Amino acid sequence: MKPIKIENKINNFSQKINVDADKSISIRWTLFASQAIGKSTAYNLLMSEDVLCAIKCLKKLGIKVNLSRNKCEIFGNGVNGFKYKKNIILNAGNSGTLGRLILPLLIRSPVKIKLIGDKSLSKRDFTRIIDPLKKFGATFFPKKSSKIPIYIKGSDFIRPINYLENKGSAQCKSAVMLAALNAPGKTTIKAKKSRNHTENFFENLNIPIKIRKNKNFDFIEVQGQKNFSGLNYKIPGDISSSAFFIVLTILSKNSKLIIKNININPSRDGIIKILKKMGAKILYNNIKIYKGEKIADIHVESSKFIKSINCPTNLNSSAIDEFLIIFLVAAKANGVSYFSNLEELNQKESKRLNLGSKILNLMGIKTQLTNNSIKIYGKPDLQIKKKCIIKDYLGDHRIMAMCTIAALSLGGKWEIHNPDSINTSFPSFFKILKKNFGAKII
Ligand code: S3P
Repeated sequence: MKPIKIENKINNFSQKINVDADKSISIRWTLFASQAIGKSTAYNLLMSEDVLCAIKCLKKLGIKVNLSRNKCEIFGNGVNGFKYKKNIILNAGNSGTLGRLILPLLIRSPVKIKLIGDKSLSKRDFTRIIDPLKKFGATFFPKKSSKIPIYIKGSDFIRPINYLENKGSAQCKSAVMLAALNAPGKTTIKAKKSRNHTENFFENLNIPIKIRKNKNFDFIEVQGQKNFSGLNYKIPGDISSSAFFIVLTILSKNSKLIIKNININPSRDGIIKILKKMGAKILYNNIKIYKGEKIADIHVESSKFIKSINCPTNLNSSAIDEFLIIFLVAAKANGVSYFSNLEELNQKESKRLNLGSKILNLMGIKTQLTNNSIKIYGKPDLQIKKKCIIKDYLGDHRIMAMCTIAALSLGGKWEIHNPDSINTSFPSFFKILKKNFGAKII
């Protein structure tokens, strides 16, 4: 697809919108449904490339899936119930969550299965998943590889493990929890705080799990080899997709926005806590609990004055996918903002800490970067005047969306390549921008 051009800011607005469904929940629902016995139905499943890749992988593994416009049915065959031919290849596309969460479901496979992905996923670290899965008893080829393409072969002699997750990675924690479904006896995990959707799925599905929490870590015990029946789910909106419109509102003049029915699970809403500390006017309304997730409408207004922040590192995991768009707010803050302990940001779809800093520099913002921190020298009067060309960013959907929001709220003449990258997570992004905000994007 050819690059987009944005040369006009948007006018002030007062809007009410829905965004696409939660990606973390959508992918997890497909995977859990594939391990259940019988039918699971999801309404409002995210129809993005990452989720469609998950469905394709499950179909290759012999799972029946009926997909229609607003409904998806998956017919699981129980834990380790996949039925497939020899020499199959699973393609996780751009999705770290899919690549890392499907491997644990294959640790009893009698034959080798190949996992591949796109250029970005092929650069990402898989040792964080390979190492614990080897402890369960799986084997990987080539033996010393840390990246995909990789082959996994399972074993009949899977054993439970004790595992320390100290990166604050929900993908690592979830991979071990899913592998534990295949292991006899008790797997124990000490996990630095991270999003807890997988734990919520275990509880909703009545899979034996015990969770003890302290300030920084959760202690999780899972009993494996228990079958469970299907789970129907109405998937709420994604806070990571909402984040772009929240920041668009904060940075635009005299504007207001309501985003309906968003998953504001406290292990995901770090962006709201951070933006409020920076003085943003954000409220939750119609709060309810659904399947252990906290759902609300988000109300946000423009900010006349943005404070700089020394961002508390205990919020890092709950805002991990939102730092790029938070950096944009820091660019317009009064003073120097500081974000640290963010080494995981360079492990995402692109090296987001480095690229985020580069983009701010291109916008005329001074930064000071280390391998895990960034200082952003905010300019409250920031108005971009120059030409900004964004390409060579590994088609990272969140870089693309960050730049689009910068263009529409701060000005400048932007040319952004690979706009279709947004289809991995938020296919309605441009449609909403044009329809609800009158964005001029050519
Ligand atoms: C995700 C966890 C996070 C996040 C990713 C989705 C998940 O990754 O960045 O977009 O659904 O579990 P890490 O677990 O690597 O931090």
